[in-house]
Amino acid sequence: MRIPNEIVQQIQQAADVLDVVGGYVSLKKRGSNWIACCPFHNEKTPSFAVNPAKGIYKCFGCGKAGDAVKFVMDIEGVSYPEALRQLAKKYNIEVPETEATPEETLRQNEIDSLYIVLNYAKEYFKEQLQTPDGQSIAVPYFKERGLRDATMEAFDLGYSPTAWDAFTKEALAKQYNLELLQKAGLTIVNEKGRQYDRFRDRVIFPIHNLSGRVIAFGARILTNDKNQPKYLNSPETEVYHKSRVLYGIYQAKNAIRQADVCYLAEGYMDVISLHQAGVQNVVASSGTSLTKEQVQLISRFTKNVTMLYDGDPAGIKAAIRGTDLVLEEGMNVKIVVFPDNDDPDSYVRKVGTVAFQEFIQKNSQDFITFKARLYVDEIRNDPYRKSAVIKEMVATNTKIPDPIQRAVFRRQIAQLLDVDEQTLVTEENFLLRKQRTEERKKADNAPPEPPPLAYDLPDGVTLPQTDTPPAETQVVEPVRSAVSYREEGVVRLLLHYADRTLEGTADTVCDFVLRELEDIAFRTPVYQRIMDDFRAAWLQGAVLGSGDFMRHTDDDIRQTSIDLLAERHSVSSNWFDKFDIYVPHESENLLEETYNQVLRLKQEVVREKLAENQRELSTKSLVVSS
Ligand code: UTP
Ligand code: MN
Repeated sequence: MRIPNEIVQQIQQAADVLDVVGGYVSLKKRGSNWIACCPFHNEKTPSFAVNPAKGIYKCFGCGKAGDAVKFVMDIEGVSYPEALRQLAKKYNIEVPETEATPEETLRQNEIDSLYIVLNYAKEYFKEQLQTPDGQSIAVPYFKERGLRDATMEAFDLGYSPTAWDAFTKEALAKQYNLELLQKAGLTIVNEKGRQYDRFRDRVIFPIHNLSGRVIAFGARILTNDKNQPKYLNSPETEVYHKSRVLYGIYQAKNAIRQADVCYLAEGYMDVISLHQAGVQNVVASSGTSLTKEQVQLISRFTKNVTMLYDGDPAGIKAAIRGTDLVLEEGMNVKIVVFPDNDDPDSYVRKVGTVAFQEFIQKNSQDFITFKARLYVDEIRNDPYRKSAVIKEMVATNTKIPDPIQRAVFRRQIAQLLDVDEQTLVTEENFLLRKQRTEERKKADNAPPEPPPLAYDLPDGVTLPQTDTPPAETQVVEPVRSAVSYREEGVVRLLLHYADRTLEGTADTVCDFVLRELEDIAFRTPVYQRIMDDFRAAWLQGAVLGSGDFMRHTDDDIRQTSIDLLAERHSVSSNWFDKFDIYVPHESENLLEETYNQVLRLKQEVVREKLAENQRELSTKSLVVSS
C-alpha cells in the first residue's frame, strides 16, 4: 500500500492549498491571505486564513494549521497516506494501488479502512447494474424514473442483489474482515451468528461527503410493498453522522457557490432529478428534520437557503420546523411549496427546467410571509389563537441576528397579522432580554477566554522583557522557558529568511545565525532538529527553504515549521488599524532583526546558566554546611 515517492511529490505539487481548502469552505481574499470561518470550530467571525504563496492554512482561533495534505487529514480524520490518496483522486493522479493484504488492512487506521470498504461496496453495487438482475430490474427502474446514464454515474447509483448475503460473501472472499463490514453498516450478524447483507434487492444511493468519498448508503425498495420501509439507510458509523451530512453536497457545492443560494429538498430523488434538469445547487436533508450542523455546512458556501417542500401538511410542517434553525445561523430563508401531490422531482419532470425555475422565482416566499399566511385563516375569529401566533412569530423573528432585518420583518408581521408594531417591539424586547440573561448566566460559568492573537505579534512588541512567557501561552504551556521563546524567534527567522542577504554584508541570514550560534545547543528538541537540518545543508553549501520543512517527513518538524511560517503580519496590520501602532515588518530591517534575535537568545542562555550556577552553589553550600 506504499505510495511511491515520486507520486507523493506529484500529489503535493498538484494539491494547491487554496483549491483544496476551497472545496470545503468559501474563502474571501484579504491582503495576501484568504479567510473564512474556521471549519474546525464553530465561529461567526473568520479567524481561519489560507496563504497560497506559502501553501499553508492556519486558524488563529483554534490553532489548527498545515498544508493541503494536513488539511485533508484534519477535516476527514484520515491518515497521511489516505489523505494523499484522496488528493490523488481529486487531481487525477494515478496511484498504483496494490491490493491490501489482511495485515496491511489491520495496520491502517479505522477510519481509513471504513472509507476503503465503503468504496469497495459502492463499486460492487455499481457492478451489479450489469448483471442480468441489474439489467432486468434495477436499470429499468431508474429509466422509468427518467434518469440518464450520465446522471446515474454522477451519483454512483447501484443495485444490491436479492440473495441474503451476496455482498458479504464476496467482500469476505476479498479479505475484508467481518468486523469491518459490520462497522461500516454493510453486514448484519444476527443472534444465531448468521451473516446477511443490510441492503437486499434495492436500488442504491451512495451518500458522499464533501470530498466525494462514500460514507453511507440509502437504498430504495423497487416495489410498492407497504409492509417494508421505502428507504433503508446506513446506520451511524464512525464516518457517517447523519446530522452532519446533506445528500448531494459533493455534487452541488460549486453550483451553490455560483448561484449563491442552496435549494434544500427532502429526498434523494429530488436532488438527482433536479441535478439532471440542470438545477444543480440542491441538497437534501434525507427525510430527517434539519440540524444546526447541516445549516452550518450550507453556510460555508452561501448564506441563502430556499426550502423546497411538498405541498402536503407533512411537508409544510417540516418547512416551518427548519426555518428557525436557519435564521439563527444568520442565513436568509425562503420557502417554496409545491402543488399538492408533487415533490420537486415529480414537478420538474412534469413541467421542465425553465418552468421549474420560473415557478421557484414566482413562489419563493420569505419565511415570515409564509408563516403568517398559514395562520391568517385560523386567527381571524380567535383572539386567543391570535395572540399565541403573534408570540410565535415574534419568537421566530428574534432568531435573526441582524437588527435591521428584524425591523423589516417586524413591519411585515404587523401588516400581515394586523397588529400594532409597538406591541411587537415590546414582545421582542422582552424575549431578547430573556435571551441575554440566559447567555450571561452561561458565560459566567465558562472559563475565561485567553486574550486573542497576542501571541502573533512580532517579538519586539509583545514579548515582555521579563522571564515570564506571555500570558496566553502560560495557559497552554505553563512550563515553557524564556530560552525556548528565544529559540523559537531564531528558528522562525531562519524558516522565513534563511537565504536572504543581510544588508551591506556578504552574509545570508543563515550564514550569520549558524556561525554566531555554533556553540549553542538548543534546548527545545524540535528546534534543535531544525537547526541540525539547516546546519547539515549549510555545511554542504546549501540553504534550506521553508518548503523543505513544510514537507518534512518528520511530523513534529513539519507541524512546528508550519506554525512558525503562518503569516502573522496580516494580524499585526490589524493592530495598526485598531490602535495606531506601527509595527515595522521585520523583513524591512533584516540585519537588525537577525542581530537582535541572536543576541536575545545568547543573553537568555547566559542568564539561565547563571541561574543554574547559583542554584548549584546554594545546594553545594548546603552540603558543605551540613
Ligand atoms: P419521501 O417519501 O418523500 O420519498 O421521503 P422520495 O424521496 O420522494 O422518494 P421517491 O420519490 O418515492 O423515491 C423523503 C426522504 O425521506 C427519507 C429518504 O431520504 C427520502 O428520500 N426516507 C423516506 C427514509 O429514510 N425512509 C423511508 O422509509 C422513507
Ligand atoms: Mn419523490
